[in-house]
Amino acid sequence: SQLQDMSSVKTTAAKDMAFAFDIDGVLVHGDRLIPEGRRALEILNGDNELGIKIPHIFLTNGSGKIESQRCDQLSQILGVPISTEQFIQAHTPMSALAEYYDTVLVVGGEKYKCREVAKLYGFKDIIVPNDIYAANPDISPLKEFFTEEQRATSAPRDFSKVKFDAILVFSDSRDYATDLQIMIDLLLSEDGVLGTKAKDPLANRIPVYFSQGDVLCPTEYPIPRMSQGTFRIALEAIYKSITGHELERVVYGKPELATYKYADEVMSSWMETIHNEERLPKNIYMIGDNPQSDIVGGNMYGWNTCLVRTGVFQGEGNDKENPANFGVFNNVLEAVQAALKKEL
Ligand code: G3P
Ligand code: MG
Repeated sequence: SQLQDMSSVKTTAAKDMAFAFDIDGVLVHGDRLIPEGRRALEILNGDNELGIKIPHIFLTNGSGKIESQRCDQLSQILGVPISTEQFIQAHTPMSALAEYYDTVLVVGGEKYKCREVAKLYGFKDIIVPNDIYAANPDISPLKEFFTEEQRATSAPRDFSKVKFDAILVFSDSRDYATDLQIMIDLLLSEDGVLGTKAKDPLANRIPVYFSQGDVLCPTEYPIPRMSQGTFRIALEAIYKSITGHELERVVYGKPELATYKYADEVMSSWMETIHNEERLPKNIYMIGDNPQSDIVGGNMYGWNTCLVRTGVFQGEGNDKENPANFGVFNNVLEAVQAALKKEL
């Protein structure tokens, strides 16, 4: 019976801890599995001494696909089920904006995938830069390539009659020249109508949102590549050089506070799904590879932070500017095991 008592204490402790996983550089590299990731998730899915599920969510700055597609793809790679109810991409919290803006310019992503994302979130009139280019190619004289496929998917429209309510950058721009040109046009327009110029560009300026702020992103190439942050910096610099004013904008994703608040909501409703108790576990562990997003954000939010060496961070000791408060680990499995050892 002493053994039974021990096990019920541990079960209570297991329900009072939770994990938030970064994805790229922690569980996968692009579409390639980091093998320790699979084992770590199996343990949390119940393959542990208590046979109990330990709550965990996924908090990624990744973007560009609807959540269900990315979850299916990750389930395949990781070999464990991943539900959209435990999954937050960079643009997931932006679904709340659909209540405020009807006509939106959606920037970034492969082909037209972000149009699908915006549709799912409930935006009513979704326009992508290629729709505008198709209506009048003169808008972007620097654009060289425009495929027949792109032309075909854009319904003809008279943009002089369209009033844009907001600009939403969902994912990485595939065409800086055209996207920046059209965004600057809208930011300087009278009331969000293309082809107009506001007398006072600061009055009633169309708002602009970015799904995340990472400057660099690890890819298959040996040196990290430019990410959404560099695109935003370019827009800010151009806007300032033209108007003399700083560009006010909103950024989502880690390490922004709004994203962690959203994560709390997802975490407590996931607790309800798996343990029938809608509440936040006391001890939350963030496991990430990027000190400048995962770790700094988790530290500010009062989470226990674990830095792994399988992604952006490759150093010896802890990160100098944004040290992980729980520790640095060779991989995600070691981090999960250390957290379980501490709490259970
Ligand atoms: O930098 C963008 C993205 O690939 C980062 O994803 O999962 O490391 O937050 P993640
Ligand atoms: Mg990462």
